[in-house]
Amino acid sequence: MRALGYENVTEVSLCRFGKSFMTTALGSTATAPLEPSVAFTVEDALANAAGKSEKQWEKKSKKKSNVELSERFSNPDALRVAVDVSYEQDSTRARRSVAKQLCECVGIAHREDALAMTYCDFSGPIAEESREFFFSDRWSSVKMDPRSVEEAFDARDVVYMSPDASEVLDEVDASKVYVVGGIVDLATRGMRTSLTRANASSFRCARLPIREHRPEQTHTVLNIDAVVKILCGRHRGESWDDVFDRELPKRQAAERPKRERRERLA
Ligand SMILES: C[S@@+](CC[C@H](N)C(=O)[O-])C[C@H]1O[C@@H](n2cnc3c(N)ncnc32)[C@H](O)[C@@H]1O
Repeated sequence: MRALGYENVTEVSLCRFGKSFMTTALGSTATAPLEPSVAFTVEDALANAAGKSEKQWEKKSKKKSNVELSERFSNPDALRVAVDVSYEQDSTRARRSVAKQLCECVGIAHREDALAMTYCDFSGPIAEESREFFFSDRWSSVKMDPRSVEEAFDARDVVYMSPDASEVLDEVDASKVYVVGGIVDLATRGMRTSLTRANASSFRCARLPIREHRPEQTHTVLNIDAVVKILCGRHRGESWDDVFDRELPKRQAAERPKRERRERLA
């Protein structure tokens, strides 16, 4: 059992291999602490989970990236992408999810030789989560920079990606840095977090042209790794249609005909 930083809110591991956890909130009137009847601690379960994932990671990462980091960053034609990890996440689940998506992006960089990717403001809880659960010490295809986006790049080069921007992105240009917000929409769903952040620093802000090319798409707010894959596809010279065909979630497209069928049957 471990405290999560709020009064009487603790996390209990339900499995010794760290696969499932339960968060309990006893409220301020609780008279006694929670005493789960399990023979292992959250720390034991996390250590077991880390050991297992480390073996899986070693297996996966046998295929090394073809291109050194320095080569990526000195290539004038490389696509420059940054993930802004400065956002505060309000839960362990949100932090884990951001770290997992950063790990997915490392895999994308392994496959994309012409991708120069930086994780900005990479310090604090997300960096810890990434090290503990996703072995960030071994991430060799991305740059992990403790500096903020403002410190790491010239503001005139920055295009901050936000689903709420009014500018629609068309071309992807190697002279720019495309910044993706290190945010997961859990408690903050629907909030214009990245737009507010970009405006505060007077960054140019743009959204992907999903509505223009896929008007039937109901979910236009994508995960961090999906945005990176889309930018890579466009940078390789693919059309928006081809990239969206491959990278946009298919679920909504499959749901719609069922709904329409029900309406027709009624
Ligand atoms: C899960 S989204 C977070 C959405 C959040 N509500 C926000 O305000 O950004 C993660 C990041 O991916 C990028 N992103 C997601 N969908 C996008 C879209 N349709 N156009 C541009 N950027 C997008 C943004 O940088 C965003 O911060």
